[in-house]
Amino acid sequence: METLHTIAIRKSVRSFTSEPISEDVLQKLIAAGSAAPVGMGAHQTVKITVIQNDALIEQIRSMIEKAADRFNFNPFYTPNVLVVVSCLDDPSSKGRDISNATCVVENMHLAATDLGLGSVILWGCIKVMAELPEIHQLLEIPEDFIPLAGLSVGHTTEAIDKAKPDKKFLEVNVIR
Ligand SMILES: Cc1cc2nc3c(=O)[nH]c(=O)nc-3n(C[C@H](O)[C@H](O)[C@H](O)COP(=O)(O)O)c2cc1C
Repeated sequence: METLHTIAIRKSVRSFTSEPISEDVLQKLIAAGSAAPVGMGAHQTVKITVIQNDALIEQIRSMIEKAADRFNFNPFYTPNVLVVVSCLDDPSSKGRDISNATCVVENMHLAATDLGLGSVILWGCIKVMAELPEIHQLLEIPEDFIPLAGLSVGHTTEAIDKAKPDKKFLEVNVIR
């Protein structure tokens, strides 16, 4: 697929089948994420955690549900793969860390589309996860790092090869 075509048809997908993502395809997704741009070239301040383990994803979901005090909370939408991007917890970065994490998940979101997979960027549940050190331990996230962005990925029965009919676009002001 052409890059611009992939960007044009990209959409958030929130329903996944139980079919596992193959190792070959997973490695392509990981390569796309790890090739993301990083502010000031500070690659050591960004870590990608890739979870392809149903029991662990369910364990984290359940911990978030409890912490958020929300019944039947399914913020990951039961994906085959959950990606969590963490960054060095450094107040002096003034948002650069969030931008870095977002570049990683957007790269992976586009790569998933190109590979015919469904995916959705996550932030709401990551915000809850950031406050739960027991999840950081489970995911082997260093103590001085904080989760800032996530992505759920999986096979889907939704059509990946076309944009949503009601796709919204941002307002643009071109100044010449
Ligand atoms: C920074 C960011 C955070 C998001 N967080 C969530 C989230 O926590 N849960 C969710 O279901 N979707 C989340 N989304 C997906 C948006 O809801 C989605 O991109 C938006 O509704 C537009 O739809 P589209 O992606 O299909 O074009 C997030 C997207 C971005 C860019």
